[in-house]
Amino acid sequence: MGRASDAIDQQRLWDRHMAIARFGATGRGGVNRQALTEDDGRARAELAGWAAARGFKVAVDEAANLYVRRDGSDADAPPIMSGSHLDTQPAGGNFDGVFGVLAAFEVLEALDDSGMTHRRPIEAVVWTNEEGCRYAPGCTGSLVFSGRHRIEDFLDATSPDGAVLKDDLARTIAATPRAVKRTGGGPVDGYIEAHIEQGPRLEAAGLTIGAVTGIQGGSSFEVIVTGEDGHAGTVPLRQRRDAFRSAMAMVEALYGATADPDDTTRFTIGRFQAYPGSPNTIPGEVRFTIDFRHPDGDYFAAMVERIVALCEAHAGPCGVAVKRRHVAPPADFDETVIARIERIAGELRLPAKRMISGADHDAKLMVPLCPTGMIFVPCQRGISHNEAEMATPDDLAAGARVLADALLEMADA
Ligand code: HGY
Ligand code: MN
Ligand code: MN
Repeated sequence: MGRASDAIDQQRLWDRHMAIARFGATGRGGVNRQALTEDDGRARAELAGWAAARGFKVAVDEAANLYVRRDGSDADAPPIMSGSHLDTQPAGGNFDGVFGVLAAFEVLEALDDSGMTHRRPIEAVVWTNEEGCRYAPGCTGSLVFSGRHRIEDFLDATSPDGAVLKDDLARTIAATPRAVKRTGGGPVDGYIEAHIEQGPRLEAAGLTIGAVTGIQGGSSFEVIVTGEDGHAGTVPLRQRRDAFRSAMAMVEALYGATADPDDTTRFTIGRFQAYPGSPNTIPGEVRFTIDFRHPDGDYFAAMVERIVALCEAHAGPCGVAVKRRHVAPPADFDETVIARIERIAGELRLPAKRMISGADHDAKLMVPLCPTGMIFVPCQRGISHNEAEMATPDDLAAGARVLADALLEMADA
């Protein structure tokens, strides 16, 4: 009997990426398939159709997490799971998240093609709203699956386009009508997520596989600065409660505090809006987001508090509210999973190295539940969260081959 990796079909895996890319295609090479939109539902339905054609079992839970299951010989055994997300950034690429879902599905197909059996069931999973662009926070599906939240905590969330999560959730669940309803949650005996690196390190080092050791600390805030609307031509500067000016003082202080000579800190202001947004009205409100990340747990925790304090200290004549959208300390993956990925990459003659993930992933939520790890493959010039995001069929297939052998070993362990 050969290896599961022998049955990975590179062309089929690439073709499935191109099929999913159609849902929300922008016409500029990228995709806008944000969470719980109709395009998100269509992509899920496409995957569910492929699964049904294979005779795999398809289920959906209360958070719209979608599960594709290939049974094992022991129906009562907890599954080994693998997956990622199909939702994208508003100007996103066709591989972030999608590769993890399709690599997991390709493993199920390869096992089916080869007739290989395994003791534990193996499940490919689509997590709901990993990106968190339309509905904050991200990782909605894996937060519910892991028990950190109930879906009820998120139902009344609203999106910038005025939608309400509970309505979009119902429509997304209805997009896969033949999926069996199930309650999200474990037990689960292992989890591996395949993902493009979303950074330049593998490509720069000429490597194919990243055996990911963990995920750095990540935090996201919304800052609401409240001043007073006024006439741009009449209100003396001394009397203004100019929300833009106070927000800029905060931003300057934040960039100063996070300046980092060894370039480890990741600090981003991705959204900045002044209201009412009229050229001749003093803005009475500014809303901006902060994304702060760092791999050192103590420094990360201290800076999270400092960020809040700096916003408050620079409010001037305005009020300020700093909402924590999510704060997640660094997470370490399981050494047995990391070592397994490293060993299999070696057996398959794929150049590999251990590395931490700069990006956040649903895998972080799986760490407390079961032995968890991730497999990275390169993306071109490290570009991601960008319509130019690109990966090669060879690299995607290489990642899927390592995933296939690792999942089969874990299913039979
Ligand atoms: O932001 C992240 O790290 C992930 O891509 N959502
Ligand atoms: Mn992702
Ligand atoms: Mn992403």
